[in-house]
Amino acid sequence: MPRGSKVGLRARHEDDIPILRAELYDDVVNSSRSASGPWRPIAPGSKDPRLAVDDLKEGSVKFSVVALEGDTLLGTATLWGIDNHNRSAHIGLGLRPSCRGKGYGTDVVAVLCHYGFVVLGLQRLQIETLSDNAAMLRSAERNGFVREGVLRSSAWVMGEFLDEVLLGLLAKDWKPDATS
Ligand SMILES: CC(C)(COP(=O)(O)OP(=O)(O)OC[C@H]1O[C@@H](n2cnc3c(N)ncnc32)[C@H](O)[C@@H]1OP(=O)(O)O)[C@@H](O)C(=O)NCCC(=O)NCCS
Repeated sequence: MPRGSKVGLRARHEDDIPILRAELYDDVVNSSRSASGPWRPIAPGSKDPRLAVDDLKEGSVKFSVVALEGDTLLGTATLWGIDNHNRSAHIGLGLRPSCRGKGYGTDVVAVLCHYGFVVLGLQRLQIETLSDNAAMLRSAERNGFVREGVLRSSAWVMGEFLDEVLLGLLAKDWKPDATS
């Protein structure tokens, strides 16, 4: 399992699904801020790809995030839009509300960078996040991501258009120990 200083990224377990559904996806505001589409409920037992992981699907790798200490489930992490020609991918993550603001997010980004650059051999990683998402922006910048632009009014979120920030990191600029 890929590990950082605080978190490990492992496969999705069946037991993770009800917790992630209740704490991340049933929360309309959180879901609307994190997803690019409209919120819809996920039924128990659903094979919705946000929860049930197809290990063999090309183009994305989904992890459950656990604390190295105690093995508690913290949330989800994804490398998506993996493009093997341009050797690039996007990063996404979401932590359970009680697990935010404790340095886990910064460490998850560090582990995803290691996975993307070292395990997959990618040369560019990208993050899109709402411009008011201070914790995500900081987690990315702590790992060396730089702001490459603002996508004005690009996200319809709970009744208004919000700006998104596009951040990128190239393998040649990545410093594996940036956050330790
Ligand atoms: C975004 C998210 C993954 C960040 O993870 P986190 O564990 O909360 O972030 P960290 O504790 O590693 O904090 C990173 C930095 O942001 C700062 N920060 C954390 N929460 C903050 C907040 N609410 N407001 C301002 N700054 C904040 C921290 O102080 C830290 O800064 P530092 O490195 O200067 O000390 C997490 O908050 C989350 O899951 N949010 C909801 C889902 C989401 O927004 N996902 C991203 C969609 S693109």
